[in-house]
Amino acid sequence: MSDLIFEPMQAADVAAIMEIERQSFASPWSAGLFLHELGVEFSRQVVARRRASGPIVGYACWWEVAGEVHVLTVAVDPRKRRHGIGRALVRHILAAGAGAGATVAGLEVRADNAAALSLYAACGFARVGERRDYYGPGEHAVLMDCSIATEWNDRGAGVA
Ligand SMILES: CC(C)(COP(=O)(O)OP(=O)(O)OC[C@H]1O[C@@H](n2cnc3c(N)ncnc32)[C@H](O)[C@@H]1OP(=O)(O)O)[C@@H](O)C(=O)NCCC(=O)NCCS
Repeated sequence: MSDLIFEPMQAADVAAIMEIERQSFASPWSAGLFLHELGVEFSRQVVARRRASGPIVGYACWWEVAGEVHVLTVAVDPRKRRHGIGRALVRHILAAGAGAGATVAGLEVRADNAAALSLYAACGFARVGERRDYYGPGEHAVLMDCSIATEWNDRGAGVA
């Protein structure tokens, strides 16, 4: 999706983000956790809108540390899914990471989250391991990595 507007997440966005967050995760982040991340030096956050000043349709949070990107969360308004917003958010993260000099991105995703596993695979992530019981007894995490090519700098975010 190439017509998205990406903006840095602001504290004023957190109420709208929480609406999506609660519908997206069995164990949603708290508003306080989003606000905390806004103040973490190596944490990055973005919100996506379809038009200027329009409603938030998706958001992401990641860390950029020591040349690596670590994806913390990506979510899309349930009413807006399967229109390329998730893919555009992940591409935005990778482009931002490339711009900051990162060479690799990594993440953990619930082993039963088929949509996310498929999204990340579609964006170039590969399974590199598993953490058993990471989210609780019987709730395993899949570890995925992605090499960040310098081309992300040129392609930028939102390019389908
Ligand atoms: C995962 C999520 C972010 C995907 O967002 P989205 O905007 O619907 O994703 P996109 O439309 O960009 O899909 C890109 C690709 O991901 C895969 N995908 C996305 N949703 C999928 C689903 N429900 N089932 C299977 N594959 C899916 C497909 O490969 C898709 O490409 P295609 O549409 O050409 O087939 C969204 O489902 C979501 O917010 N889920 C709840 C939160 C979550 O689990 N976040 C990820 C863990 S942090």
